[in-house]
Amino acid sequence: MHTWDETTDLLAYSVFGYVVERVKSDKDPHWGAKPADELARSLDGAITREGIGGHQALALFRDELLPACRPMEHPLNLAYVATAPSHAAVLFDLVVSASSIFGGLWECGAGAIAAENQTLHWLAELAGFPDEAAGCFVSGGSAANLSALVAARHVARKQIDEPPARWCFATTRETHASVHAAARTMDVDVVSVEPDERGRMTGDALAAAIDEHRRRNPHDRLFAVVANAGTTNVGAIDELDAIADLCDAHDLWMHIDGAYGGATLCAPSMKEALRGFERADSFGIDPHKWMFAPYDCAALVYRDPIAAAQAHAQHGDYLDAVDRSESNPSDLAFHLSRRARGLPLWFSLATHGTDAYAAAVEHTLDAARGFADHLRDRDGFALLLDPQMSVVLFEVDGWDRARYDAWTTSRAHDGVGLVVPTTWRSRTCYRVCLVNPLTTVDMLVGLADDMAAFGAG
Ligand SMILES: Cc1ncc(COP(=O)(O)O)c(C=O)c1O
Repeated sequence: MHTWDETTDLLAYSVFGYVVERVKSDKDPHWGAKPADELARSLDGAITREGIGGHQALALFRDELLPACRPMEHPLNLAYVATAPSHAAVLFDLVVSASSIFGGLWECGAGAIAAENQTLHWLAELAGFPDEAAGCFVSGGSAANLSALVAARHVARKQIDEPPARWCFATTRETHASVHAAARTMDVDVVSVEPDERGRMTGDALAAAIDEHRRRNPHDRLFAVVANAGTTNVGAIDELDAIADLCDAHDLWMHIDGAYGGATLCAPSMKEALRGFERADSFGIDPHKWMFAPYDCAALVYRDPIAAAQAHAQHGDYLDAVDRSESNPSDLAFHLSRRARGLPLWFSLATHGTDAYAAAVEHTLDAARGFADHLRDRDGFALLLDPQMSVVLFEVDGWDRARYDAWTTSRAHDGVGLVVPTTWRSRTCYRVCLVNPLTTVDMLVGLADDMAAFGAG
């Protein structure tokens, strides 16, 4: 199986040829999953005692399996938060796989970790964090949020002698589901802060929530605030500076979930909106969302990585030999073995330069603003909220939920694009979320034209 011979050579060329073709092609979009029994039939006989050979397995993937997966990088995949990896990053992902690097410990993967750290340092610098800030790449925003909150609680726990009745952190209901899932995983409570009319946590609302919570639950201990730099549903940016003031005053860890919107740190036009980001204790940004990296790439950065390592480092007889004098990515989150998943981003940044990143993110922001301007002036549509990042929420006049669902299903089926409805303040509406610089205002206006025709028809 491990012998490299002519057959393996041919397979390598086929696999690489496939990757190049896929990266270059416009790809036929297929937006829906196939039924499980249909896929099971396609897969029938794929795993056998003798093996079917790489060429046949590759053909099966290309012809049957991939068409049952959404093209997440398509410029009209505007649902949820999609992805738009650069070609450089995608190709380098192959290199990372082929290099068999253990990215957990410095002594195993120093070269790769050094490049990941350079990338994290760039992000930390953009955020305005001090030089000592450090972190690691984890699998996604969910893992980043959980790991940061575990570190925050660890720090708070060391400051008290008696355990509180309940541990709690504060956030709004606009905060991503993964933060609420982290609370359940950690068995801590969430103090809910009422968001304002734009979906933001304000300093006043947080102050009121803290006072109220302390009055009602004097034996609980608040240890953190999770603020958003870009909520998923509407792209809201919390009042970071005012939140930081309160975290200072109450000795709370401030974590910023920038999984979606943290990418805008590289966009000059967002500088003012993100004021206060630099005062957080930790933040997460998913380059696999809006920073042109392939999946499995989330950056987690701590102001004080030593405190985070005390929370996360794993110890055991066979691990005692590990050199802890260098910072090990394994010590900075809930994981041990890890792929050097920050490298595709590093390679792409090194290839294209940081100016290209700033321009690409600005371009996406401009497209969202341009589409919002169009909707504001267009009969038959109502813009529900001025975009705070690259999410645009709008209603189509006279449509009920069934009509939204019908357009979504039909256009997904036809391979036009993917836009799914959401709700905002109990109103059903469409939400488009742009992360791909190839998405243009004209394309978005085309979708609106199509909705208008669908409505009339
Ligand atoms: C703001 C925010 N936080 C966290 C997450 C979870 O990220 P992941 O899916 O990478 O775990 C998302 C995903 O969309 C998000 O938008």
